[in-house]
Order: sequence, then C-alpha cells, then structure tokens
Amino acid sequence: MFGKRVLLIVTGGIAAYKSALLTRLLVRSGAEVRVVMTEAAKRFVTPLTFEVLSGNPVADDLFAPHTEPEIEHIELSVWAERIVVAPATADFIAKSALGIADDLASTTIVSSRCPVYFAPAMNQAMWRSPTTKRNIETLKRDGRFVIEPGSGDLACGEEGPGRMAEPGEIVDVIESSFGRGELQGIRVLVTGGRTEEEIDPVRYISNRSSGKTAFAIAAEAKRRGAVVELIHGPVDVPPPDVDAAREVRSAAQMARAVKRAFPKADILIMAAAVADFTPERKSRGKMKRGEEVVSIRLKPTTDILASLNKSDKTKVVVGFALEDEESDRKAMEKLKTKGCDYLVFNRIGPDTGFSTDTNSVVIYGRRGRIASTPIVSKREIASVILDVLVKDKRIRQKSNERK
Ligand code: CTP
Repeated sequence: MFGKRVLLIVTGGIAAYKSALLTRLLVRSGAEVRVVMTEAAKRFVTPLTFEVLSGNPVADDLFAPHTEPEIEHIELSVWAERIVVAPATADFIAKSALGIADDLASTTIVSSRCPVYFAPAMNQAMWRSPTTKRNIETLKRDGRFVIEPGSGDLACGEEGPGRMAEPGEIVDVIESSFGRGELQGIRVLVTGGRTEEEIDPVRYISNRSSGKTAFAIAAEAKRRGAVVELIHGPVDVPPPDVDAAREVRSAAQMARAVKRAFPKADILIMAAAVADFTPERKSRGKMKRGEEVVSIRLKPTTDILASLNKSDKTKVVVGFALEDEESDRKAMEKLKTKGCDYLVFNRIGPDTGFSTDTNSVVIYGRRGRIASTPIVSKREIASVILDVLVKDKRIRQKSNERK
C-alpha cells in the first residue's frame, strides 16, 4: 500500500489495544496513516501510542485551533483514501448509521468521501441486539463496508460473536480494496530466487538471491487479481500462495521452464538471479582434495530473457539489473539488448540488493526513467513495480477485455 493514505478512527472499546498493532501493520505495508481517537478511546490507549506508531499527531478535537485555514474534519476526510473504524463500538456504529456528528470522529464519517470500513468489537449480546443489527444494515445500505467480527472469548468473560477481526485481516481487506481487479484476468509469470550450477555431486556455484523480491511481486500480482505462475530456484523464504509454483535448480532448467510458460503469459517479470556461467564439465564423482591447484572452466549460460521469442508485442517483459553503480546509460542499454519493456535497476549496497529485506530501485521504460523509490521494504518495491505495469496500455486493454 505504498503511499496510500489511510485514516484510522479508534473508538472506545477494549479492542483499541489491537489497533496499535493495526497501525503498525498499515505503516509497514507502506501506507501513510493518520489516527483520530474518540474521548472514550483515549481511556483505553493513549494518543502517544498512536502518534509514535503512525509518525503523525493524533487528531481528537473538533474545536482545536488550527494553523491551516481548512477545518480539520473536512481536511481529514479529503485527505483519506480509505477510512477504517477499528474498533467500532455499538455506540459509534449507531451514531454513524444516523449521521450524528458531535465529535471529530463522527464528523469525519459524515463528511467522508472515500470507502469507509467498520471493524465492530463489542459484547456478543450487544452485537446480536436488534438495534445494532439494524444499524449495521443501514451502514451497508449506505455503501459502508463491515469487516465482520469473529467469535470466541470476549474481554467481558462471555463467549460468542463480537471479537474484532484480527489486525492482519483488516490490513488484507484494505489492501485488496486498493488493488481490486486491476490485473483481473492477466496472466503473470514471475521468476525468482537463485540458480545452482553443479561442479560435482556435492558442490555448486550460486549467488545470494533470497527470492524475497520475486515472492513479494507474485503476492502483490495475486492481490491485484492476476493469475500468477511462479518459477523459482532455491530460495530462503517460503513461496506465496499463487496459482502455480514450480521449483527448478540450474539455469538450464529455469530456461526450459520459462520457455514453456512464456507463450501463455501476458507479463513476464524476470526477477530470478540466473547464473551467467556454469561449469563446462560437471565431475561425476566428488572432486578429491590434492596438492595441485584446481581450475574450473566456466561457460556462459543461455541468456533466458534475451533469447525468448518476443514477436508477440502485446506481451510485457520486465527484466532486472543488479549493478555496483547506477547509470541511466547502462540500464537503457541492458533494457534494449535484452528486449525488455521495463527494467528494474537495483544497486548492490548494505540495505539493497540480494539478501536484505529492503531495497531501492529505479524503473526504466523504453523512453527512460519512469519511477524510483527510496530504501523501502520489498513489498513496497513490488507495489511500485506493479503500479507501473497496471498503467501499461496493453495491460489496461487486456484487463478491460477480460473483466
Ligand atoms: N537473466 C537471464 N538469463 C541469464 C542471466 C540473467 O534471463 N542467464 C536475466 C535476469 O533474470 C535479469 C536480467 O537478465 O532479469 C539481468 O541480469 P544480469 O545478470 O544483470 O544481466 P547480464 O546480462 O548478465 O549482465 P552483466 O553482464 O552486467 O552481468
């Protein structure tokens, strides 16, 4: 959710403590988060908690003096791309259903102009009461979204429905609301991880690629509605849940798998760190230690990206480049020689490159630079790459045809 503006409204229930984690997860997903608290919410968790976690001051007063000319309730509802009320108490749900605007939180709901999500949390009898049911129905009829509460032990000691949805679930709902359908019906082929080139039955040449970027891209493409196929070499993290995943080992195996899958794909994202060289000869038995110097002759592998048949111009091909130094000229050269539509350039550094959790990239198109990021999580990198792809004319057209 890189750069998305999410307004969290915390109302007064014990589940407010879970909203601290929700704030953290939203921020971690790349969203810009601002928090509004009701007076009752502040009895459960302090504004300072949310200020620290969101990195923004908490708004709580409808009548606070402002340095800016806008009135705060309007300013916040104009700013927000999504509003999440978590926890949403029975009282706040009732006020929102009626359109009462007697504090900053309720006024923000009435003046909202973006999708609003309510995550109710209350005692099971309150949740089951006819008035709450009626209010929830009203909210849904008004086009608000309700993230249904779970069942189980409630803070009041009773059991039943009324437990606020888990913060992770709420983030998933908000995230998919942004991505919904952009890549509907688009087949995305992603390669990732490293390859291993055997020297003998126990030794190989490889690199430090972890597979994290490719997996983040595959997961993000799935979230946006694509049909995702993943071909990956050895990796350090488990692959995400996609439509098809296949593990290969050597560059030659990856080349065969990609050649077979490419004709069906609309987008190829070649994030795998494929070995450029492989031993000319593989020793059948384990190489024995001796006194002499041993040399291994390496031959170049097939350049998968460059060798694919790209005559179908409706396909979109994305390559990656990892270099010591950033150079627009080199990046554009690589984009052309490999026949890519886009090239994602990343530099080797302490917080960027292979085994890290973060990265910083520059994305090039056929006419030059399109986007760049500071050092951010690989999930955010994935989001920026897919933001570029969903804007591609060919993809927009195919996605519209297939919706
Ligand atoms: N790649 C590929 N087949 C290979 C090697 C690399 O398809 N045998 C792909 C990678 O998946 C990546 C892109 O090519 O998308 C760039 O890889 P890189 O190693 O930077 O490119 P090289 O052409 O090997 O460039 P260099 O000579 O700078 O190492």
